Amino acid sequence: MINLLILPGDGIGPEIIKQVIKIVKSCIYTGYKINIIYNYIGGISIDKFNTPITNNLISIIKYIDTIFLGCVGGYKWNHSIFKPEYGLLKLRKKFNFFTNIRPIKCPFKNIDIIIVRELNGGIYYGKPKGFSKQIINQIPTWYAYNTKIYNEQEIIRLARISFNLALNRKKKLCSIDKSNVLETFKLWKKTINYVHKFYNKVKLSHIYIDYATIDLIKNFNKFDVIITSNLFGDIISDLCSLLTGSLGMLPSISINNKSLSLFEPCHGSAPDIANKNIANPVGALLSLVMMFEYVLNDFKLSNNLYYSIYKVLSYGFCTIDMKKYIRNFKIVSTEEFGDLVNHFFIINV
Ligand code: IPM
Ligand code: MN
Repeated sequence: MINLLILPGDGIGPEIIKQVIKIVKSCIYTGYKINIIYNYIGGISIDKFNTPITNNLISIIKYIDTIFLGCVGGYKWNHSIFKPEYGLLKLRKKFNFFTNIRPIKCPFKNIDIIIVRELNGGIYYGKPKGFSKQIINQIPTWYAYNTKIYNEQEIIRLARISFNLALNRKKKLCSIDKSNVLETFKLWKKTINYVHKFYNKVKLSHIYIDYATIDLIKNFNKFDVIITSNLFGDIISDLCSLLTGSLGMLPSISINNKSLSLFEPCHGSAPDIANKNIANPVGALLSLVMMFEYVLNDFKLSNNLYYSIYKVLSYGFCTIDMKKYIRNFKIVSTEEFGDLVNHFFIINV
């Protein structure tokens, strides 16, 4: 029995997660032993419990095999003391999800890149951080600060995962940094070069983040696996989503040093289009493909879901964000898209 924790979160989260649940329920219906547990994280948790992540949620995770999250955040909590994002950041840190794998793959375009994003360190978590006041030019003035910090162990464990991934692919790893300016990235680069000695079959390259934003768009075909820091990984995954057409298309898996995994689409909560039944559930559904593969080890199921998504898209059905990229497109709602995928999925489950 697999205990699957579902955290729909905020904005379009509940709508897209609903499409994931349809597929999971089809699996259960045909005999798969999956136990679904629902809980709250982010803004909805602030509204209900006054905190973006409750101790109760943290304590039930010891009984959980895998977590599926929608997305967190929204304008509604712009001025609240607690931020929805803090719930997700705490979840990632508390359970040691130090590696975030974001495949940039598109069913109807020849593109296949994997971004390995560091997820437990860097400027997202470094201390000291905070706000303070100082007299500057005789004027009391607020200032704010963050610390970007990486140690060798954090870089080595991420590098090993990235090299191993590259070994099973085109054997190319590109590290994206800013080592021409920042100390943390000088150590980053040196450490990755060191780990490379154990992976001489992999071709390693380094590029700076500023140039990477151009190279990734213009010459995306030359990339295979990318390794980068928490912040840069956040930024370039949104950038790379342009290569697939829409941010709504990208899945992700986060892993820790135990066997717990966290699946979430790369997109945000998109509060401007929430509750309109127009959000793109593909990133979430592709995350479920990854869950079938990595948690259930069931390739029949993951292939079935992947091809069901592919089929629906190849018939031209898509949510509105995809219409520019699909020939003879027919715009459908989030619900309809999920139903169509489920329709193909049940034929072969
Ligand atoms: C992401 C998101 C998160 C991040 C936010 C919601 C905290 O943008 O997963 O890409 O910055 O990591
Ligand atoms: Mn992001």
